[in-house]
Amino acid sequence: MDIQISRAELVRTLAATQDLVCPVVAGHGKRVAIFSSLIAEALGYTTKERERLMLAAELHDIGCFTLSITEMKDLHAFDVLAPEKHCAVGYILLSQSALFKDITNTILHHHVHWDATKGFDIEGNPIPLDAYIIHLADRIDISITNKHQILTEMKRIIKTITELSGTLFCPKVVRAFEDASARDAFWLHGVHSEYSTVGLQDTGEMLSTPQLLELVDILTLAIDYKSRFTSTHSSGVAASAVELGKLAGFKDTLHLQLAGQLHDLGKLIVPNEILEKNGPLTDEERAVIETHPFYTFSMLNQAKGLRDIARTASFHQDKLNGRGYPFRPVPEEYDIPARILAISDIFTALTEDRPYRAGLDESSVLGIMRKMTDELHLDPAIFALVESNYNHLNAVRHAAQIEAGNRYEEFWRETAAIMEHIHPVHRPPDN
Ligand SMILES: [Fe+2]
Ligand SMILES: [Fe+2]
Ligand SMILES: [Fe+2]
Repeated sequence: MDIQISRAELVRTLAATQDLVCPVVAGHGKRVAIFSSLIAEALGYTTKERERLMLAAELHDIGCFTLSITEMKDLHAFDVLAPEKHCAVGYILLSQSALFKDITNTILHHHVHWDATKGFDIEGNPIPLDAYIIHLADRIDISITNKHQILTEMKRIIKTITELSGTLFCPKVVRAFEDASARDAFWLHGVHSEYSTVGLQDTGEMLSTPQLLELVDILTLAIDYKSRFTSTHSSGVAASAVELGKLAGFKDTLHLQLAGQLHDLGKLIVPNEILEKNGPLTDEERAVIETHPFYTFSMLNQAKGLRDIARTASFHQDKLNGRGYPFRPVPEEYDIPARILAISDIFTALTEDRPYRAGLDESSVLGIMRKMTDELHLDPAIFALVESNYNHLNAVRHAAQIEAGNRYEEFWRETAAIMEHIHPVHRPPDN
């Protein structure tokens, strides 16, 4: 199946993951993109340069999915104590696709203080001006309380920022901010971003299949690396779904591959404190987890090119007997790809090793799945394929998860190395 999706649509899906991860600052990326673009206009940026800057601004906090709630709260303080982790994670994550090669350095340095860097990183390479613009725009957004009309709040914010010119902020960027922010419209564009005409435009540029795979890969890493408990799960589900698809006679399995990779996208809304809880979940915590297929659907369905995948991916907690959650599709809606995906999810969950227990053996897995099939939870014809191809299917799943596990270890090794190389932020001496 040829999946037609524009670059802008998938970038928007990527950017929207930040709102799932941190709903209290929903829309932050878009507002930072608008403020950045208006400051860049005052700096004389060309349209093309502003497009590059807005892309970086939309995605600047993409690394936040690895943070705990406490670490996330730190980012909402005006002077962030430990920004390095989300900057390094965002940098490595976006380095997975050539589409982002012009913005990765900006993402890495979007919290550096001007007086600690004076425009150069720790190895003496220039830090992009874009990074200093985003840093300032980011702090504008964090300073807006929404308790008062923005046109009364703006004076206080302008004062705070101009006082920090030459220490926290790059003086050249502060001067451009002063020019741009003198117009009330600067503030109104940002605060009412849903009505603003400033922002990333959809040029209609379509993604090639390799580009699509690169971007979906980035989303998959964000889903799986949120917690070490789930660090290879989507890779296992995707590999199982593709293999079951082939056994069921599908010639093209790209759809199943992508649905497998993306099925737990909505889990980004579940705090790690719940995902990794050691002990039984409360009703409230279970209810939060049970929302996740809904968010998978809503996020993917926003992109026209991903609507079929949204359906296949988000029915994975539903059942053939209509007793699953949250959609309860009628059997005609619950098509073969969705049934394959649901079985792949359960098969992977039972067979994979988790940090707190080893994967189950063949007879236990088949015993559990047979019972589910007898209750018409699972599709009998697809379960029969699992039963008669168990060893092959499990070997394919296992190999995919071993590979994903090695990549996970490498990702964190690289992140640790890069965190040491980000220029330290300025700290006034204690007195
Ligand atoms: Fe940030
Ligand atoms: Fe931010
Ligand atoms: Fe799930």
